[in-house]
Amino acid sequence: MTTLPKAKITALGCYTPPNVLTNKDLEKLVDTNDQWIMDRVGIRERHIADPDMATSDMAFEAGRCALAQRGIDATEVGAIIVCTVTPDMMFPSTACLVQNRLGARGAWGFDLIAACSGFVYGLTTGAHLVAGGVHNKVLVIGADTMSRIIDYTDRATCVLFGDGAGAMLLEPADDGEGFIDFIGEIDGSGGEYLKMPAGGSRMPASADTVEQRLHYVKQDGAQVFKYAVRKMYEVSRDLLTRNGLTVDDVAIMIPHQANKRIITAVSERLGMPPEKVLINIDRYGNTTAGTIPLGTRDAIAQGRLKKGDLVLFAAVGAGYTVGASLWRWAF
Ligand SMILES: CC(C)(COP(=O)(O)OP(=O)(O)OC[C@H]1O[C@@H](n2cnc3c(N)ncnc32)[C@H](O)[C@@H]1OP(=O)(O)O)[C@@H](O)C(=O)NCCC(=O)NCCS
Repeated sequence: MTTLPKAKITALGCYTPPNVLTNKDLEKLVDTNDQWIMDRVGIRERHIADPDMATSDMAFEAGRCALAQRGIDATEVGAIIVCTVTPDMMFPSTACLVQNRLGARGAWGFDLIAACSGFVYGLTTGAHLVAGGVHNKVLVIGADTMSRIIDYTDRATCVLFGDGAGAMLLEPADDGEGFIDFIGEIDGSGGEYLKMPAGGSRMPASADTVEQRLHYVKQDGAQVFKYAVRKMYEVSRDLLTRNGLTVDDVAIMIPHQANKRIITAVSERLGMPPEKVLINIDRYGNTTAGTIPLGTRDAIAQGRLKKGDLVLFAAVGAGYTVGASLWRWAF
């Protein structure tokens, strides 16, 4: 168990683009229907960015909101971590683009690729920068424009994802608040089951890769589903156990939102009652690195997460990547 000086989350900002794509809209694109999507995944609608909006634009909006909530200037930020699998381009990093837009002069930063576990990994990385005394203000942003890498002729994937972003500010904590612990695990043996095959050094973009639609998300849904249920349950269980905590101590679990049935199966195994589990996939779909901050915003708005509460974040994503963290909420 880690016994680090603590970091706490002091502000939260989110952004979702105004344009909404409903299941009814998708019925016009592919052979699907609202009933199947609601029953099998639990999504009713998702937000989609306009063509002129990229990931850094959403990340900027979320970051700006978080800083405004805290009432601080961007020049006070020491580091910016942008968690994304849909950067504006391979380089410069999205963190650089956001740093410039925010006017965070003097900050450093980088992009973090961990797919659906991105935000949980980013929060932990940021917490360790604060805990190590390197910085006292770290901005962690999860942002993904999934609509740019989704094949809207593939009904097995196009119904699942949406666009969105969220940001949290990390600062040093006093005793009894903030970061408690984290468990992370990567398992590359699952890499085949969820990936975007082309566009990297293995398979550079060519007329052929475009024609074969290899720049889109490819997924073996059943494999990912089984792994997600098992690992999200295991890391959440182990994290609670090694900190001497039970589900009774947790005020709310905010899991990654990939499929309502995954979340329900995990919470049932944990013995976590439904009122302690945040589900908002019906309105946003899977926004990849955006789901945890968007869920946190809703938990606060619904009065289900308050200062002093114990919150459990948990996620599984492409890679595979797995992560869970525990925090004593501080605002
Ligand atoms: C993708 C997912 C929703 C599919 O659900 P499922 O219950 O496993 O469904 P299957 O893939 O077994 O498909 C069942 C049937 O529905 C069909 N189907 C798939 N997508 C459909 C859609 N959008 N509309 C209607 N039917 C659909 C399939 O073609 C299949 O038909 P068949 O039996 O005639 O072959 C589910 O596997 C899942 O959520 N996986 C994990 C996704 C995930 O977490 N991804 C992000 C990583 S964090």
